[in-house]
Amino acid sequence: MVRINLTVDGAKVADDVEPRMLLVQYLREKLGKTGTVVGCDTSNCGACTVHLDGTSVKSCNVLAVQADGGEVTTIEGLASNGELHPVQEAFRECHGLQCGYCTPGMIMQSVDLLKENPNPSEEEIRLGLEGNLCRCTGYHNIVKAVQHAAGQTAGQAEAVQA
Ligand code: FES
Ligand code: FES
Repeated sequence: MVRINLTVDGAKVADDVEPRMLLVQYLREKLGKTGTVVGCDTSNCGACTVHLDGTSVKSCNVLAVQADGGEVTTIEGLASNGELHPVQEAFRECHGLQCGYCTPGMIMQSVDLLKENPNPSEEEIRLGLEGNLCRCTGYHNIVKAVQHAAGQTAGQAEAVQA
């Protein structure tokens, strides 16, 4: 076992973990952060995306011990003071989800994408989300949600058109 200390969604945690434990396993099984989901376990789908020290990572591709000393934000830590994060709000408003399974990872990736590029083109959004798969193929409204979060569309009526 290896001792790790990290901050998850603003709370300091310390645990003894197996060196082979994945960060996504640690979040879900040790901390109960089941908002972060597993779609493939092989770093293909992006469903497990979280932020590690402010950058999106696929948490099935990171060992818990690699996050030692770091700051992890999951979908469960994105809202603040009872208010959805603007990207969460945009996904809700633009209906950027169907079954919702890919949504936590899509949102975490979109937040990172917009931090790096606050005014992305549609192509840049699609490229930025290429590591996140939606098995419901709801990409159209996901892209619209990111555009809406970037302030490129006025609201629901415009966001869901065309
Ligand atoms: S579960 Fe991590 S990329 Fe699919
Ligand atoms: S909304 Fe179902 S997988 Fe994307």
